[in-house]
Amino acid sequence: MPDRIEIFDTTLRDGEQSPGASMDEREKLQMALQLERLGVDIMEAGFPIASNQEFEGVRKIARTIKNVRVAALARALPKDIERAAAALEPAVSPVLHTFIATSDIHLEHKLRMSRAQVIDAAAKAVRLAKSLVSRVEFSAEDATRSNWDYLAEITQVVIEAGADVINLPDTVGYTTPTEIEGMFKHVIANAAGADKVVFSTHNHNDLGLAVANALAAVRGGARQIECTVSGIGERAGNTSLEEAVMAMHVRRDVYPYECGINTTEIVPSSVLLSKLTGLTVPFNKPVVGRNAFAHESGIHQHGMISNALTYEIMTPESVGRSRSELVLGKHSGRAGLDKRSRELGYDLTDEELKTLYTKFIALADKKKEVYDDDLRMLIVSLHHESFAVYHLEQVRASGDDPTMAFVKLSRGENEYMDTATGDGPVDAACKAIERIVGVSGRLEQFNIRATTPGKDALGEAYVTVNFDGKDYKGNGASTDIIEAAVHAYLNAMNKYIALKEGM
Ligand code: KIV
Ligand code: ZN
Repeated sequence: MPDRIEIFDTTLRDGEQSPGASMDEREKLQMALQLERLGVDIMEAGFPIASNQEFEGVRKIARTIKNVRVAALARALPKDIERAAAALEPAVSPVLHTFIATSDIHLEHKLRMSRAQVIDAAAKAVRLAKSLVSRVEFSAEDATRSNWDYLAEITQVVIEAGADVINLPDTVGYTTPTEIEGMFKHVIANAAGADKVVFSTHNHNDLGLAVANALAAVRGGARQIECTVSGIGERAGNTSLEEAVMAMHVRRDVYPYECGINTTEIVPSSVLLSKLTGLTVPFNKPVVGRNAFAHESGIHQHGMISNALTYEIMTPESVGRSRSELVLGKHSGRAGLDKRSRELGYDLTDEELKTLYTKFIALADKKKEVYDDDLRMLIVSLHHESFAVYHLEQVRASGDDPTMAFVKLSRGENEYMDTATGDGPVDAACKAIERIVGVSGRLEQFNIRATTPGKDALGEAYVTVNFDGKDYKGNGASTDIIEAAVHAYLNAMNKYIALKEGM
């Protein structure tokens, strides 16, 4: 029987730390439900000490997710550990993940602690964590730049203190496959009790070696891979879940391991993440990129026609990308829409389905063929409707230099309208919104892209707006690109107002 590799997903923690990837509580929950469908073994939901919002986000996931272990991160400090344990309190299978750095560089310049002090702090942290939560993971931050004998020593101490999982991260993406394999072998051979715990590998992709290093660590004895959907994460990102999993899947001869991932949920997970965060997946990204299964050259196309094996090492269907996408139209009806939404993994309430149907008909009127990605975008934007303070009823812009925009908003029963001039239609419309609401923000980031190919594509807009010194993300979708941008701006402003008014 092949060894089982546990997949520890950290999209919602390390992934969410990457610039532009932040998600609010409800977005995180949507992603968590998708990770559950994907079949990860553990999902790291966040870092509860970071803020009250982060704490609530972890708690909500801990309360909702039943079939996957839920982890929360804590530094090796009592206040962090107690906060993480409190956030995990409703979880069926909680994991408290505590860490402290072990490299001399970090000890000297960051922690200003001796090796002995770090060992002591790690042991105390694990003991406290174990008294609060049944499963504890210990991470030796910057392990790959740490002394191997010292790593073995601290590993032995935390095992004695009750750690169940030992993670040896390549925090700065510095190691190489041969080196990390050696590091795991050394620690496992030299730490007493190593046979009683699971070793975990956590790699960053600064040199583009994260997946190779994770697989090499498995050869060295690791049995848990920490990774993120689409490889998002600090700086150059983390080990990409889909690449590590598919490498084990496709090359079982080289990596004879099993994992519990439902590979057909890989592409849907990547698409949902991209819709929630606005991060674009590079077209040539292995497994999940738009071109990952596209064959352009005539020679390749000819080969594919005679036998797909000529140029294809895995099928698009095996990772959840269908060759012929089902297309919905105006006549697909409510039942068709309901069925397809379920097939895509969404379990909508009757109320949500009703709103979705109205949006779907409006879209089908404009673009005739509604693709899966269009539908996913509509479903993601349902979430905005449900907590919107102000709704966009109408936006019109005319003229240039300057452009004049008219905007109509509603809040409950009341309607408000105003006009403003600006540098282009989006600027003018946002200024009109600000005049109505009496709040003004600074646009920090603005990205726009098409959901699906074609001239009538649904446009997606993603913005980051700074209100009162804090960044709020917003997104919007429409076949009209100006409307999409204005929706996104209003969405960010609604989040700010909801927080300010304590809604
Ligand atoms: O990269 C890292 O070292 C981490 C730890 C907190 C596990 O993310
Ligand atoms: Zn990390």
